[in-house]
Amino acid sequence: MKRSAKILCLLGLSFLMISCNEQQNGTVNQEINKEQIVVDNLMTRRSIRAYEDEIVPRDIMNVILECGIYAPNGMNKQPWEIRVVDDQNYIKELTDLYLSDMDDDHPRNPKKDPNFRNMFRNAPTIVFIAMEPGFCSQVDCGLLAGNMVNAAWGYGIGSCILMAPIQFMKSEKAKPYLDKLSFSEGYELLMAIGFGYPDERPQAKPRIYEKIKFID
Ligand SMILES: Cc1cc2nc3c(=O)[nH]c(=O)nc-3n(C[C@H](O)[C@H](O)[C@H](O)COP(=O)(O)O)c2cc1C
Repeated sequence: MKRSAKILCLLGLSFLMISCNEQQNGTVNQEINKEQIVVDNLMTRRSIRAYEDEIVPRDIMNVILECGIYAPNGMNKQPWEIRVVDDQNYIKELTDLYLSDMDDDHPRNPKKDPNFRNMFRNAPTIVFIAMEPGFCSQVDCGLLAGNMVNAAWGYGIGSCILMAPIQFMKSEKAKPYLDKLSFSEGYELLMAIGFGYPDERPQAKPRIYEKIKFID
């Protein structure tokens, strides 16, 4: 769904929920719907791999990043560093480099995909997360990423957490691009997250409910 249509839907939904409350209680009670809005946001988020061209405005990215760093993290060590790249030249040059070694005939060569735009699942804004290795660091960075993708979805912004490009990002070939991210000494690139306005509306991937058990 296009961004404008999604915003209209969200506005419509909020109006409907507030109107219902007004009718039932005679007062606006948005508090009642807070949990519904949160659950709806979590349940409707999808990983997005097709985007509109527009770069996510930096003021919105700043809110998403702030939500990220407010994630719970072991002993509040915040063992992460975050870099945001919305320079399309950086993304294009890196993608060209990534593709340059690939065999054109390989069945999984992304160049065969007519919708392929870049190696970050086509997103126009990329967040790179590096971690300071430690007992809780990977978990902490995962929670940071979780907060960010869910906060983004609340703004109608799609995202996809990406581990696949990391091996290439750490290769000798990509070193100038990793260096440009200027992570501090001792920090290791862990993941990328692509962000942008969705140009697809994927179904939810099935979840395995049997993995949940209450213990009596
Ligand atoms: C740690 C992690 C690594 C992931 N790496 C990739 C990736 O490299 N490429 C990709 O397309 N999706 C990647 N994903 C997205 C998952 O494929 C996606 O979250 C999963 O299929 C569930 O779909 P959903 O996010 O739409 O609910 C990754 C997700 C996580 C959490």
